[in-house]
Amino acid sequence: MNTVPFFISLFFHIVGLILAFGSVIVTDLFGLLWIFSRIRFPHLVSISNETKNFIWIGWVIMIMSGIPLIYLKGEIDNLMIIKLFFVALIGINGVFLHKIHEKIQNYKKGEHVPNITMFHLVLGLFVSQLAWWCALAIGFVHRHIQSVINWPPFPFLVCISIAVGLIIIWKVGERIFNEEK
Ligand code: HEM
Repeated sequence: MNTVPFFISLFFHIVGLILAFGSVIVTDLFGLLWIFSRIRFPHLVSISNETKNFIWIGWVIMIMSGIPLIYLKGEIDNLMIIKLFFVALIGINGVFLHKIHEKIQNYKKGEHVPNITMFHLVLGLFVSQLAWWCALAIGFVHRHIQSVINWPPFPFLVCISIAVGLIIIWKVGERIFNEEK
């Protein structure tokens, strides 16, 4: 660690972070503006149509630079397992958000967007924020506070619990909002 190749990889890791997470923040801020009726829904859809490409590119850069980083560090501790879970969650959720986006794009101007689609969108944005902030916080802690953290004792159990929790929220939401049709 702390060699020239490590810092070069870290540089690209941060470039990917700026590109991807910056675009996530921009998209979500426009989402907030839409919630407070400052912009119209088609405007939000056209913005996220552009930002989603930057998010994917940044995410791929982070993984490509993360692999040499982890190789040079030579250790995958328990907290890193959880970080990798969040990285995978970002990818899976990104596919989910992409599908919702395609669906929303098909609605014509002024057409009512069903509550179930809105629920999917809000859940997707929530998972995106959760996973990005957690991966970011773990990266920060590893780099600036303690390099190796073998906590929590059962990282896979934590990952499974988070995944199960999110699936329960998803299924319960679908039940509630499908009935409202
Ligand atoms: C969404 C994806 C990711 C985010 C948001 C993220 C975030 C971060 C952040 C904020 C840092 C600290 C940078 C600094 O302050 O200098 C960092 C460092 C690091 N990241 Fe990532 N990262 C991601 C993906 C990955 C992946 C996929 C890997 C491994 C395959 C990885 C491995 C590392 C390593 C080894 C470090 C050096 C610090 C350490 O853990 O000892 N990261 N990351």
